[in-house]
Amino acid sequence: MRKISFSPPDITEYEIEEVAKALRSGWITTGPRTKLLERRLAAFIETGRVDVDCEGTAGVETYSNRVVCLNSATAAEEMNLRLLGIGPGDEVIVPAYTYTATASAVLHCGAAVVMVDIQPGGDPVTHMPEMDYEKLEAAVTERTKAIVAVDLGGIVCDYDRIFEIVERKRDLFTPMVSDGSALSELSARIQKAIGRVAVIADCAHSLGASRVFRGERKRCGEIADLTSFSFHAVKNFTTAEGGASTWLPLEGVSDKEIYQMLQLLSLHGQNKDALSKTNAGSWEYDIIGPWYKCNMTDIMAAIGLRQLDRYPGLLERRRQIIEKYDKTCDELGISHLLHRTPYMDSSNHLYLIRIPGIGETQRNEIITALAERGVATNVHYKPLPMMTAYRGMCAGPDEYPRAYDYYHNLITLPLHTLLSDEDVDYVIEGLRDAVKNSI
Ligand SMILES: Cc1ncc(COP(=O)(O)O)c(C=O)c1O
Repeated sequence: MRKISFSPPDITEYEIEEVAKALRSGWITTGPRTKLLERRLAAFIETGRVDVDCEGTAGVETYSNRVVCLNSATAAEEMNLRLLGIGPGDEVIVPAYTYTATASAVLHCGAAVVMVDIQPGGDPVTHMPEMDYEKLEAAVTERTKAIVAVDLGGIVCDYDRIFEIVERKRDLFTPMVSDGSALSELSARIQKAIGRVAVIADCAHSLGASRVFRGERKRCGEIADLTSFSFHAVKNFTTAEGGASTWLPLEGVSDKEIYQMLQLLSLHGQNKDALSKTNAGSWEYDIIGPWYKCNMTDIMAAIGLRQLDRYPGLLERRRQIIEKYDKTCDELGISHLLHRTPYMDSSNHLYLIRIPGIGETQRNEIITALAERGVATNVHYKPLPMMTAYRGMCAGPDEYPRAYDYYHNLITLPLHTLLSDEDVDYVIEGLRDAVKNSI
């Protein structure tokens, strides 16, 4: 019997050597490796390339400004929301069908979460459980400050639609008024510059994915007003734990101001980081606000630097596995995510399938049957309204029938770059048997 893990990290000697170098360098917290990873990620988002020289002056000047590496996507989303000045009295719309972090980051800021059900069966082409855009539009009120869209599985949402909605609702939006503090002053200027409900992308799964947006192909990070990425151990691209925030340029607010505020928000509000304090005589610092601690360390960044070198190859291998899964699912009449369309290329992160004609019990039996053959699977996701933490915070699960319907017969197959072709065939064989025996 083979043992097929669900999503183990793909770490080679290449990453291990860079981590060892970081450990031996004498600088292990946020420092040169984190800064280089930020510039390389910015360059990757802009060009799709991982071989751009970001170490020389040209790299520093061209790509240094719009990525901040942090310790998770949850922190990145929270810092994005805090940068926007979102807090008590504000509402943020999220899909009912997502991981808790999308919604909990909003709650950490003291704002209210408004959940929207998905389209029946998900998007008609990709089958990704995207929000129902009519319901989304109806959920926008005078209190709505942001919408968080989730590129689940690496499939990019229909941001054209989302931006059309926030543009149509412009009249409902009033930018916040600054209370005079440094953060509030910047947030007020950002809200004024955006001038409508902000579109935030939860791209925890979708680093490297792209979609035609306003007639032009754009990579995730170049579409929404603000974006968060995850580099958690199960993600395509990992730094063990980790994440990053990025944003689009704004009129009247410089990238430098935003970058510096994200540094402050993520490092105790301290106006000098540890590295700059090492300069001769520059021990003194101020605390601008009693803020948070969610910086990336250079040990994490060391993993990321080498993962990024390998990332195009990792994406390609995932695509090959998906091709095999697609063929089998189409043959068996099983609905699955479509990771590639003429207008969208996903980051091939998760392979969700939905087996027609079965209920939750049979779904769970298939998961067990596969586990008994050594194949680990998963379910992405049990909708938020079904979770204890969110009961009472939103309408009951009955108000989100499509999210429940999507979840009840869903299984996520293992998809990662340690799978050999034989492993993939083994998963497929197990799936064929388990489905045959359950129907
Ligand atoms: C959709 C989504 N958003 C956010 C997160 C949070 O990511 P992190 O663990 O890096 O905070 C996850 C994690 O799996 C996720 O799946």
